[in-house]
Amino acid sequence: MTRNKLFAANWKMYKTPPQATEFVAAFLPMVADVTADDIALCAPAVCISAVAGAVKGSRIGVGAQNMHWEKEGAFTGEISAEMIAASGCQYVILGHSERRQYFGETDATVNRKLEVALEAGLTPIVCVGEVIEEREAGLTDDVLRRQCTSAFRGISAAKAAKLAIAYEPVWAIGTGKTATPQLAAQAHETIRHEASKAFGKGFAEKLRILYGGSVKPENAKALMSEAELDGALVGGASLDPKSFAAIVHYQA
Ligand code: 13P
Repeated sequence: MTRNKLFAANWKMYKTPPQATEFVAAFLPMVADVTADDIALCAPAVCISAVAGAVKGSRIGVGAQNMHWEKEGAFTGEISAEMIAASGCQYVILGHSERRQYFGETDATVNRKLEVALEAGLTPIVCVGEVIEEREAGLTDDVLRRQCTSAFRGISAAKAAKLAIAYEPVWAIGTGKTATPQLAAQAHETIRHEASKAFGKGFAEKLRILYGGSVKPENAKALMSEAELDGALVGGASLDPKSFAAIVHYQA
């Protein structure tokens, strides 16, 4: 089964709306030749409208980096699935390790958010991955299984159709340490197996599992040549249009 790849930029807390617009103006012509794979720019919330306006008419998607699980309410500082969708998002990152580490995101909140994002018609990119202590203790598979089963709880295969997962080993994020392609592929197999248990074999075969963690133009080709890796979620190297375009063009 060949799956087309998804390359998603996670800009984290970088770029103002004018800087985001400037990025898109430079980036669009660089990736105009990309017709098979998908590209998404997951921008800070205040940049979403600017990015959505700037990519209009292209194949590039727009994403948010987080959302709340309630439709609306007294939740100061939060944004809902409906709000981000209405601002031009097709994608939303859920459960990023930085949200788990610094903002109290749990497997249970990821599950609630996933259900709501799917209901809103968004493509959620659910992040899973182990910290270094867990890898060294041989617990990687246990952690991935727990994060996946919790995230998928109570969600049907029909509802989950748009789901994508990102395997992001926490020790590889922003550290310059990349998982080897083989090590990433093993983790992806574990995740795909969990998806198969939750949603069925056919679903799991179609599920896109991205790799994230120090993906750069220099290592993208080796990573993407693993059949298990269906794209990348890119932090630091996605901030510069040239380097993100080079990752998208990993085959060149
Ligand atoms: P880096 O590419 O900067 O390591 O970040 C990865 C990441 O967290 C993407 O979500």
